[in-house]
Amino acid sequence: MTGGIVTRAAHAKVNAFLRVLGRREDGYHELESLVIPLDLTDSLTIRPARELRVDVRGATELVDAVNAGGMNLALVAALALAEECDPVAGAVIEISKRIPVAAGLGGGSADAAAALHALNEFWGCGIEAGALTAIAERVGSDVPSLLAGGPVVMRGRGEWVHDALVPTTSWAVKSLDFPTRSPDAYRWWDEDGAVTGPDPAALYASAESGSLATLGPALFNDLEGPVSRRHPEVADTKAAFLEAGALGALMSGSGPAVAALARTPQDAERLAAAVPGAFVAAGLARMG
Ligand code: C5P
Repeated sequence: MTGGIVTRAAHAKVNAFLRVLGRREDGYHELESLVIPLDLTDSLTIRPARELRVDVRGATELVDAVNAGGMNLALVAALALAEECDPVAGAVIEISKRIPVAAGLGGGSADAAAALHALNEFWGCGIEAGALTAIAERVGSDVPSLLAGGPVVMRGRGEWVHDALVPTTSWAVKSLDFPTRSPDAYRWWDEDGAVTGPDPAALYASAESGSLATLGPALFNDLEGPVSRRHPEVADTKAAFLEAGALGALMSGSGPAVAALARTPQDAERLAAAVPGAFVAAGLARMG
């Protein structure tokens, strides 16, 4: 089916909990996390081309930040897929960027996941879900969870994903104006004495049943302490959201973005208005 134009939304994510179980022999960390896609998206458009390349558009600071991050993860994904499917032509992957970069909101991984889906269709590869997840895993630890198209519990290094039946949620999110690199956040966790959060079974049950008042105070991220110690703005932002009446708040992923859980979309608007620079995002239930 090479030839047509394929478009796809790449959804940002928030981690409602992120539990670091330990450092592995290979340097990665064993994780457990509830990953919820947000209605905040980048847009991908795939167009026919002889070569394979990525073209990033959007606000200058976003485009510059993406380009400063080395090889685009969507291109890494495209190359990994091309190895499996041997397409006869290339593609231009146009990414219209809105998701803050290196914020813990999974923007680069979401672009990579969307590129895998879109190119699988564009090149007519016909690679099924399990095999696509295996390719996603090679591209980056967060990519399998963002390929899933709905809330998931992720385990292992990120490669083990299981659908989570979480209803729609309302969040206010603030992306701080400095990036955090995942290797640093995990190294700080090692250096600071490796605290592992509680068994998330009760948190997960609250999330599934939509018991927001129980879910809010239970949200946690084991990387938050180590990152906040080096970047107090993270703790300050969390405190500002809680002061404004959030049910709970936590740093997302390896940070530094902070997400606050609200009772309703209107409450999320109120929280975002109370914390300068914050915006509203809906946590999505399974799509399609
Ligand atoms: O897989 P990815 O390339 O996204 O990982 C980036 C870095 O984040 C890894 O090199 C590692 O330092 C850290 N990481 C980790 N444990 C994970 C995921 C990422 O230590 N489960």
